[in-house]
Amino acid sequence: MSLGSFLDAQRQAVDEALEACMPGEDSYPARLVAAMRYSLFAGGKRIRPVLVMAAAQAAGGKATDAMPAACAVELVHTYSLIHDDLPAMDDDDFRRGRPTCHRAFDEATAILAGDALLTMAFELLSLPSGRITPATRIRMVEELSRAAGWRGMVGGQQVDMESEGAAVELPVLEYIHTHKTGAMIRCCLILGGLSAGASRATLRALTRFGEKVGLAFQIVDDILDVTSTTEEMGKDQGSDARRGKATYTALFGLDEARRRAVELVEDARTEVAKVDSKGILGQIADYILLRRL
Ligand code: IPE
Ligand code: IPE
Ligand code: MG
Ligand code: MG
Ligand code: MG
Repeated sequence: MSLGSFLDAQRQAVDEALEACMPGEDSYPARLVAAMRYSLFAGGKRIRPVLVMAAAQAAGGKATDAMPAACAVELVHTYSLIHDDLPAMDDDDFRRGRPTCHRAFDEATAILAGDALLTMAFELLSLPSGRITPATRIRMVEELSRAAGWRGMVGGQQVDMESEGAAVELPVLEYIHTHKTGAMIRCCLILGGLSAGASRATLRALTRFGEKVGLAFQIVDDILDVTSTTEEMGKDQGSDARRGKATYTALFGLDEARRRAVELVEDARTEVAKVDSKGILGQIADYILLRRL
């Protein structure tokens, strides 16, 4: 199957599943629900849920068993974007091609909409569904909490904020990137594998693939912040340099950042080659490297 048709089919399926689990437009409290829906259905790439589905497929699982986890990671991700854009954090005005949540609504509503999406993710993972056993559901909750929390994405965001304007060295930069972005992407591969009842060896290969593409994804994000326009990307570009962010491009320059991203994607492909029988994970890794959007 070509990557394009896989991405289209999975994105559509994920969007339908998200629509089914989200409160409808006329739910109360109206402003909160409107803000949650505004950010979630704003046309993100859905790369994280697609990774969950692709990992599940590679491990021989069923799409229906992977879908709650796919929705859960997109809910956590969307919350992280809403909070990342707040004036107290990156203070950005555009996201997913429209004004950021706090611009379209207000700061308090944006904070609460993020909180609501985050907590909904865990509700979704904990509910009985398909063939997933209660023990696997608990393991999935554990993995997602760890990836999203202080040892993962939130920890990375804290060091990202503390490092603004500072001269950071490679270990700190790597901590930021592997935590603020890498941890959630790694988790997508693990959740997909768990939903399929993957063997330990398969889970290990998926995890290592996730670590490499997760870091590559944030390096590419750093590169695009320098090389792309706000119109092309649908979010404020050039804001990293303005805020003195610790990025691969700031520390090493564009060429070295590109070289590192290419190397990581090659390593990722090697890690997963044995379990990626249809080649979809490898193709997603290439897409992460070459994406313009
Ligand atoms: C943006 O993530 C935040 C980063 C971790 C770089 P995406 O580039 O996946 O954003 P959406 O979901 O497509 O909007
Ligand atoms: C975001 O990193 C990581 C998150 C956890 C949201 P960035 O701050 O670089 O993401 P963008 O560029 O605003 O999407
Ligand atoms: Mg940020
Ligand atoms: Mg940001
Ligand atoms: Mg960025």
